[in-house]
Amino acid sequence: MSSDITSIVADSRIGGQRWDRMIFGHFIEHFHTQIYGGLYEPGSQLADDRGFRMDVIEALRELKTPIMRWPGGNYVSDHHWYEAIGLNRIPSYNKAWRVPEPNTFGTDEFIAWCREVGCEPYICTNGGNGTAEEMSNWVEYCNGRYETRYANQRRQNGNDRPFGVRYWGIGNESYGDWQIGAKTAAEWGPYVAESAKMMRAVDEDILLSAAAVPDSEWTMGLLRSAGRYLDLISIHGYWDHLSQVENPSDYMTAIMSCESPDRMIAETRNVIGAAGFTGKVKIAFDEWNLRGWHHPDGTGDDKIKARDLNDVPSTYTMADALFSASFFNACLRNADVVTMANVAPTVNTRGPLYAHKDGIVRRTTFHAMKMYVDHIRERMIDARVEGPRLGHGAKSVARVDAIVSKDGAGTTVTIVNRDPTAKADCRIMLDGQTLRGEFSVDILEGNSADAFNSVEKPNAVAPRRAVVQDKDEAFSIPPHALCMLHIPA
Ligand code: AHR
Repeated sequence: MSSDITSIVADSRIGGQRWDRMIFGHFIEHFHTQIYGGLYEPGSQLADDRGFRMDVIEALRELKTPIMRWPGGNYVSDHHWYEAIGLNRIPSYNKAWRVPEPNTFGTDEFIAWCREVGCEPYICTNGGNGTAEEMSNWVEYCNGRYETRYANQRRQNGNDRPFGVRYWGIGNESYGDWQIGAKTAAEWGPYVAESAKMMRAVDEDILLSAAAVPDSEWTMGLLRSAGRYLDLISIHGYWDHLSQVENPSDYMTAIMSCESPDRMIAETRNVIGAAGFTGKVKIAFDEWNLRGWHHPDGTGDDKIKARDLNDVPSTYTMADALFSASFFNACLRNADVVTMANVAPTVNTRGPLYAHKDGIVRRTTFHAMKMYVDHIRERMIDARVEGPRLGHGAKSVARVDAIVSKDGAGTTVTIVNRDPTAKADCRIMLDGQTLRGEFSVDILEGNSADAFNSVEKPNAVAPRRAVVQDKDEAFSIPPHALCMLHIPA
């Protein structure tokens, strides 16, 4: 086989792991214009009478959004849920993001918004300066069935029936000194155990996650103390670190991070196994994005204003789309242990959607996500991918990444060509047969590796349907492209 050919070998006659649609989940935070000016904009011509931007909601329905994690993120380590309910909302100062919080988009608004989108709510509680009691009282406010203090507050606020919030997280990145109320590894396990006990005492049917990292000291301690109360552990990944200086990495630098999600998942899987929780505790990769958010330290108006730099459209190129595709492939390859993932965030900042006063822009990552949501079939088939690597400086990644999925109607081979300039020739062997012939494909490529969508050019990058034919038993995938090749049963 020529050294330039990538070989994709899959056998659908063995196994077939089903995957959880929650891996196409989302995260939204009270940061910059994600909530106020993003999904919630009372008075906007594009909002309904509750202030929900309906264009944002319709786009999230296109993505079949399964779950939304809220209200943070760093924000939540200084958020008190009871300040954002009821008739008279008093603004509070959020010490995490160092700005006033109007508290007009609180629990009741979030639940109503999720119902409008058609997604599950996933509430991350304050594991910073919050307490186990505050967390469990939030569960009672949402899910309480009896005539008790917090359930009655929900009723007084117009919601007689329990919200039935199933997904709850304990804390956000409490391991990091950037968090208000950060904890040590020795403190975190017992704190989570107590919080989980109290939350489950209110509603034993909730699904619980807690902040973790692919690090044995922190996460082994967490699982030893609280693993018996948990359904998932939460890990986060951002690879282009831009919190202090906004200088987004170029295409090739960014692409060199494409294999890191696989490594993070493998490390976390190993810690879960070492702690004896294989099959019992799953992974929620509940914040991920190629680009870290820009939010320089400090309280000066210039530091707050600098957050606008997150919205420069040219930042979000085919690198973001192909990193996202590589991330989804990592989750799908590990569908036995990764049962949730949440792009961080959904709208504005680094999200797949950008909302402006006259409408929305579907960034390159939106189209990549939609292709996965629309075309990945119900079972993952083990696939072996072998081929040339793509180098940049001292780093390299496989030039082509691929996964294979199958259902009763057929098989889809999902191929990512990470090369910025060269097509990739791929030989596909399925169930012992070399694939030949003509097949329909969905392709996302843009006209260059640096192509992006903007308000002025919202469709510069958009998926297209085409037909490919093998040449000498190899299929040519264009450069910087995500390609889904469909093989009917
Ligand atoms: O930059 C955004 C922050 O990244 C989120 O609020 C936090 O969870 C993570 O550190």
